[in-house]
Amino acid sequence: MSKPLLTVSDLHVSFMSRWQHEPNVDVLRGVNLQVRRGERVALVGESGAGKSLLATSIIQLFESSAHILKGRVEFERQELTQLNSKQLRQIRGRRIGMIFQDPMTNLNPSLTIEQQLLQCILSHRNISRKEAHIVALHKLRQVHIPAPETRMQQYPHQLSAGQRQRATIAMALALEPALIIADEPTSALDVTMQAEVMRLLSHLCNNNGVALLIISHDLSLVAHASDRCLIMYAGQIVEQGPTKMLINDAQHPYTQGLIKALPNMSSPGQQLYQIPGQMPQLQELQQQCSFAKRCEHAEDICYRQAPLMAPHGTHQASCHILARPAELDPDTELTL
Ligand SMILES: Nc1ncnc2c1ncn2[C@@H]1O[C@H](COP(=O)(O)OP(=O)(O)OP(=O)(O)O)[C@@H](O)[C@H]1O
Ligand SMILES: [Mg+2]
Repeated sequence: MSKPLLTVSDLHVSFMSRWQHEPNVDVLRGVNLQVRRGERVALVGESGAGKSLLATSIIQLFESSAHILKGRVEFERQELTQLNSKQLRQIRGRRIGMIFQDPMTNLNPSLTIEQQLLQCILSHRNISRKEAHIVALHKLRQVHIPAPETRMQQYPHQLSAGQRQRATIAMALALEPALIIADEPTSALDVTMQAEVMRLLSHLCNNNGVALLIISHDLSLVAHASDRCLIMYAGQIVEQGPTKMLINDAQHPYTQGLIKALPNMSSPGQQLYQIPGQMPQLQELQQQCSFAKRCEHAEDICYRQAPLMAPHGTHQASCHILARPAELDPDTELTL
């Protein structure tokens, strides 16, 4: 197997409190993650789990109150936590492309789509403007923007939300990065468009040999878009493995709950399953399993000791119990 492109090791990130009487909030608590060249990895978890903070920690682009307490972020053999802002800008602009949830955050409202694409292309390729124009047009065709010659002369606000996000994908790919990090890239779009844009992003990364770290709270949306899947809960990865295997043979009760909550796991007319309870306040977490309070299988040990990540069949999970849920038939292949 090829050497990882990105390796995050034992990453701890906290928000520092502004007041002495308030404790700091430890959000990322020992995150380990690897992305290999050309691999598509999904990071899934509910709101507040720390997915966006992990993404911004990788590219070292977070607000001033967030601090890395411990850990390493190695990308293309460089330790990103040790680089200065100029070196980081080079990596962010060229080797790692970012796609955010809101297409307007990704695009400059005062430049046409063509001007922005040309900027990307000319920043790293020694070609004429005319040649760059041809490449830009090709990129827009790749992302299926209708009438690309006309669209590229327009400003972002003149495009629909779906077209804007397609233009963002074209721009990210135009940089020819080694990795694209896409944080909820389709959540501003309607449901049918979400699946289509997600498929397109995943397919183009695969075809161009670009690794993808795709972040979502929706397991069904990323199931077909990823080779491997990591499940995040309260600032920790609780289960990871090849996506198909993980979905068909989930070990961690939280992953099992996420799968049970998928719409096609409930019969028509039946109320959608919801994992009971809420994610704990991050500052409240002690040395225990952070899912214990919501877990129907929890035993004494779950409240006394934090479980470690351990191999289980095709994947890894951190759970003391690892009980199979009665509701899921182990022989049934889930089709998402
Ligand atoms: N400035 C801040 N100060 C303190 N805590 C913060 C701050 N910003 C974020 N947090 C906390 O960090 C945690 C992780 O936030 P993050 O945005 O990474 O979650 P997420 O998994 O991306 O959620 P979502 O799915 O809603 O985007 C949350 O619990 C949030 O309350
Ligand atoms: Mg987020």
